[in-house]
Amino acid sequence: MRIRTMTTAAVASLALCLSLTACGQSSSGGSKDTGAESAKGGTVGIAMPTQSSERWIADGRNVVKDLQAAGYRTKLQFGEDDPDTQVSQIENMITQGVKALVIAAIDNKSLNNVLQQAADAHIPVISYDRLILGTDHVDYYASFDNEKVGTLQGTYIVQKLGLADGSKKGPFNIELFAGSNDDNNTQYFFNGAMKVLQPYIDKKQLVVKSGQTKLNQVTTLRWDGGTAQKRMDDLLTSSYTSGRVDAVLSPYDGISIGILSSLRSDHYGTASKPWPIVTGQDAEVASVKSIIKGEQNQTVYKDIRKLAEVATNMVDAALSGKKPEINDTTSYNNGKKTVPSFLLQPVSVDKGNYTKELIDTGYYTADDLK
Ligand code: GAL
Repeated sequence: MRIRTMTTAAVASLALCLSLTACGQSSSGGSKDTGAESAKGGTVGIAMPTQSSERWIADGRNVVKDLQAAGYRTKLQFGEDDPDTQVSQIENMITQGVKALVIAAIDNKSLNNVLQQAADAHIPVISYDRLILGTDHVDYYASFDNEKVGTLQGTYIVQKLGLADGSKKGPFNIELFAGSNDDNNTQYFFNGAMKVLQPYIDKKQLVVKSGQTKLNQVTTLRWDGGTAQKRMDDLLTSSYTSGRVDAVLSPYDGISIGILSSLRSDHYGTASKPWPIVTGQDAEVASVKSIIKGEQNQTVYKDIRKLAEVATNMVDAALSGKKPEINDTTSYNNGKKTVPSFLLQPVSVDKGNYTKELIDTGYYTADDLK
């Protein structure tokens, strides 16, 4: 009887040791973990949105590499564009005792409860690329100047059409696409582009034949290329039985690829029906290849190697009780607080400068783009 009681107690204590970090082991095993001053060697949880886009795979890889080089262990998970999956992944990371979280949200409003749990456990949270909304529990935001991304896309269109320098008067037909309505970046990209395009729409030098000019009419749930392709099919059928599309504002390369497939099915890209100007974002390999071939025209390159460095510095500072480098304290209010941010600069890339921007910088090799 006595032996049985001791065994039960031992099992209970072992179970406690396994479920908590209280036994001096970090969740990924091995290292001593005795509190904030020894956060180095602790594990940082990284929640990325999806592996369906190559940029997020690269983001995950870069953040892991930089955090490990800074002396942390890492746990990287992809939510595969399902907000509930992402919430439970983050919950598990918290239970496993991560020291900090780096999160690129799938649905910017779905994380309030889980971030309360993070706050209760004193885990700092870095909002990565996409701002998390509606919670106090976001410490820092690492991103790009997102409105500028849209400005670069809109400016490219009016320059290429010859409207900007007045060499052409139009009217030209344009259709508008935006990103996912649950991503805070979407409105910044769209508003940045529309600030450039709207004056030409007002002067009727640009015509949106579908009439769909409001953000809520042009969003693309989860940035899905297939969804964009279907919408472009519908636009061509409903609004272009006569006339042709001269430009398409696309916020992201995956969406651009969908739009181009739809246009291809409608015989664009031929001598009688040249490709419209199509923009993009992220400089994904498929789109850079498409730019080299003369199909997609432009993308906005964001050096995510630098974004990973910024996020790593934020984690390291937060865990060492220091202030990270911040270059914006006014632009990004999440409804609860203005989140101290570091914003990197995006770059417009087309056939004329991709070698300089993407190959000479080591972002891709020439072979990657063959
Ligand atoms: C946005 C991001 C873009 C693009 C898009 C789709 O949040 O800022 O660069 O990647 O998601 O993944």
